[in-house]
Amino acid sequence: MTSHISQSMLFYYIAIFLHFIFITSFPSLAQSDNYIIHMNISAMPKAFSTHHTWYQSTLSSALEKPQLATSDNLNSPISSKLIYTYTHAMNGFSANLSPKEHESLKNSPGYISSIPDLHLKLDTTHSPQFLGLNPNVGAWHDSNFGKDVIVGLIDTGVWPESESFKDNGIANIPSKWKGKCENSIHFNSSLCNKKLIGAKFFNKGILAKYPNITLGLNSTRDTEGHGTHTSSTAAGSRVDEASFFGYAAGKASGIASNSRVSMYKAIWEGGLLSSDVIAAIDAAISDGVDVLSLSFGLDEVPLYEDPVAIATFAAMEKSVFVTTSAGNEGPKLKTLHNGTPWVITVAAGTMDRTFHGTLTLGNGNKITGLSLYVGTFPTHNVPIVFMGLCDNVKELKKAKKKIVVCEEKNGTNIHDQVYYLDVAKVFGAVLISNVSSTYYSQNSFATIIVDPMFGEIIKAYIKSYYNSNHATSVANMSFMETGFGVKPTPRVSSYSSRGPSYSCPFVLKPDITAPGTSILAAWPTNVPVLELKSQTFFSKFNIISGTSMACPHVAGVAALIKGAHRDWSPAAIRSAIMTTSDIFDNTNEQIKDIGTGDKSTPFALGAGHVNPNRALDPGLVYDVGVQDYVNLLCALKYSQRNITTITRSSSNNDCSKPSLDLNYPSFIAFFNGGNSSSSTVQEFYRTVTNVGEGQSIYVASITPIKGFHVSVIPNKLMFNEKNEKLSYKLRIEVESMTKLKKVAFGYLIWMDMNHVVRSPIVVTTLK
Ligand SMILES: *[C@@H]1O[C@H](CO)[C@@H](O)[C@H](O)[C@H]1NC(C)=O
Ligand SMILES: *[C@@H]1O[C@H](CO)[C@@H](O)[C@H](O)[C@H]1NC(C)=O
Ligand SMILES: *[C@@H]1O[C@H](CO)[C@@H](O)[C@H](O)[C@H]1NC(C)=O
Ligand SMILES: *[C@@H]1O[C@H](CO)[C@@H](O)[C@H](O)[C@H]1NC(C)=O
Ligand SMILES: *[C@@H]1O[C@H](CO)[C@@H](O)[C@H](O)[C@H]1NC(C)=O
Ligand SMILES: *[C@@H]1O[C@H](CO)[C@@H](O)[C@H](O)[C@H]1NC(C)=O
Ligand SMILES: *[C@@H]1O[C@H](CO)[C@@H](O)[C@H](O)[C@H]1NC(C)=O
Ligand SMILES: *[C@@H]1O[C@H](CO)[C@@H](O)[C@H](O)[C@H]1NC(C)=O
Ligand SMILES: *[C@@H]1O[C@H](CO)[C@@H](O)[C@H](O)[C@H]1NC(C)=O
Repeated sequence: MTSHISQSMLFYYIAIFLHFIFITSFPSLAQSDNYIIHMNISAMPKAFSTHHTWYQSTLSSALEKPQLATSDNLNSPISSKLIYTYTHAMNGFSANLSPKEHESLKNSPGYISSIPDLHLKLDTTHSPQFLGLNPNVGAWHDSNFGKDVIVGLIDTGVWPESESFKDNGIANIPSKWKGKCENSIHFNSSLCNKKLIGAKFFNKGILAKYPNITLGLNSTRDTEGHGTHTSSTAAGSRVDEASFFGYAAGKASGIASNSRVSMYKAIWEGGLLSSDVIAAIDAAISDGVDVLSLSFGLDEVPLYEDPVAIATFAAMEKSVFVTTSAGNEGPKLKTLHNGTPWVITVAAGTMDRTFHGTLTLGNGNKITGLSLYVGTFPTHNVPIVFMGLCDNVKELKKAKKKIVVCEEKNGTNIHDQVYYLDVAKVFGAVLISNVSSTYYSQNSFATIIVDPMFGEIIKAYIKSYYNSNHATSVANMSFMETGFGVKPTPRVSSYSSRGPSYSCPFVLKPDITAPGTSILAAWPTNVPVLELKSQTFFSKFNIISGTSMACPHVAGVAALIKGAHRDWSPAAIRSAIMTTSDIFDNTNEQIKDIGTGDKSTPFALGAGHVNPNRALDPGLVYDVGVQDYVNLLCALKYSQRNITTITRSSSNNDCSKPSLDLNYPSFIAFFNGGNSSSSTVQEFYRTVTNVGEGQSIYVASITPIKGFHVSVIPNKLMFNEKNEKLSYKLRIEVESMTKLKKVAFGYLIWMDMNHVVRSPIVVTTLK
């Protein structure tokens, strides 16, 4: 799903780009582009009554004088150049400028920096039960399902008529809410209610950059599906009879089913731009959202050039909890985006549910495999043939009326096979492969993906007929079956992007894993879920995958925690989610990584797999204040300009105590492999706050890491009262510098009678 989106979007960008160059006849216009301009608010002259007028005046003096009155500059030059002025998310504005204008702006008083307006990457119900949520006990009960918590999402819009946004039994809108639903095309604000309480859209940036772009609909209405899916995952109401053509049938519920939803649409058919995203975050902060869910990011940029990092710093200061997706570029290391220290970064995993089809062979043997096929299939015996690698379209065409069995070997891949089978217009296919995703089963022909182990049984059956006189091997196929209890579960999905963080490798990322593969959630009823050859399929629910889907699960969990603990900081909530997570699967082994086939390292899994019931009662939390983040930015050797770009204020860039050692609930130590002259010891200092009841004694234990000596000083913490803070030191010493593995890991665990507070420790030679 997600790779499909990004590919078509790429072509779209190329098309737009060419269009732009050929049609534009004004050379200076051709080169004009969007910029995001950071201004030093402390330097604003007293003569200006508001920052808006100051930004306008700054921009006005930087503009080129129009030489001719053309249709392009008849209007006031500022109104056609200024895109947004920002208030909360950053100090500054965005504007469409020629290179000359951009240069001249750099000499304006109070100018700090500017960044180009970049494209971000979109990372595209059973899940509450899978997470152990129960209406009568635990997180749902203790938080009243996240009542009065407001979850904001920046996404593709929302389908307000979906049953997931019904407000039956929900209390009045919290009085602190300052947002609203705006009228837009095909979106009357009267469609909002006590569940869906905000709807706004932001497209001035993308329209300034590509004036003739097709937007889809100039409206908060979702014409793509992604935003309806993510928002109902985080905080959708319970829907009793949900399913996808019979798959995953049952109740569907958002994680925080009593929380409210506010949608900020900034993702358009032409993509999403930084300027629109910052404007959306600006509005979400000022409206008063408690939790913000962002399923997109920008790869390989430093924090001070990352619009998500910049705007979420302001959100964090206002106590907004921000959840982001790690990206879908796994399983290679260092593919993660949103590795930002003040947000939570979410990886994607599998659930214990499968969607399958069954192949019944002529000899009665039944073989089950993955499938999400929704079309029809004849109810009589169909000839079945083995076609090897299925890479010869001519041969495949001869098997048109048959079920074709294909095997993955020697560099062939399922992606190409599906393409050839589609071209050959086969009837049905059995793909022998160990891919664990149903993604390749949604084709115009009936498809079942079977494990290589079962593939042998099918091949043997076909071969036995081939050898006997002219009898035909036959089979039936049936679909729309849902299975539970898959073992092992959860596993980290192969596509989920891996750490360490590009922008800040000293903070271990990702932070947490949540369900992301084959997630059922609400969908617009007029956006096709599937287009088979001649048929288009629609559904009120859709099953899709990606870290985009994992991210809103954590937004929902954060809403539950916030519902139960109003006063916790974003860092305390993040700590609670991380230290209480699970590292074992349902076979009591360490959670596996589908990408490597081995056990997951924290670069894939983060601290573990989210466990909402335990997250409401973590015992201890690792809190982080604004100055701690500034100390980290200072230690990254950022210039004052770069720090002010992020922190927005010169009073927020005191670099007297630089430190890379953030008070984070995880540890990452870099050692230079094989270099005997580099340091062999690293020390980390941490302070934990007792959020449990009164007196308690915590004792430390460490799971050993081969080749290292890890110790905790002191290894016992005695708390006398609630909210008391105590500190400790973690020391990692290398035993032999020449024998270091690329990635090794273990855990530090603090335990009292009722709590287990676990932190991952990664030791690596990467860099
Ligand atoms: C911002 O302006 C204040 C007041 O003029 C000045 O002290 C400070 O150095 C400026 N900060 C930056 C990053 O330019
Ligand atoms: C929106 O809905 C209300 C109530 O249903 C109706 O009175 C109003 O005319 C509608 N507005 C638009 C612009 O359609
Ligand atoms: C946009 O469309 C208008 C009217 O169709 C045309 O005059 C103009 O040149 C186009 N501009 C660009 C940048 O393509
Ligand atoms: C989109 O709608 C907004 C207000 O609802 C309006 O200001 C803007 O001009 C519209 N843009 C386009 C491209 O139709
Ligand atoms: C396939 O289905 C047909 C019709 O229901 C039935 O007659 C036949 O026995 C089935 N074949 C197998 C192998 O199950
Ligand atoms: C795999 O490919 C290589 C080279 O293309 C070939 O020599 C070998 O026979 C192939 N193996 C199989 C099992 O097809
Ligand atoms: C999947 O199957 C291929 C070929 O059968 C094999 O090379 C690969 O190691 C398998 N991967 C996993 C994760 O089991
Ligand atoms: C980062 O700092 C460098 C050096 O001061 C400066 O040239 C650059 O413009 C800054 N970039 C941002 C976005 O702050
Ligand atoms: C070893 O580490 C030292 C200090 O970190 C560094 O200066 C040196 O270049 C490194 N040598 C090698 C071979 O990596």
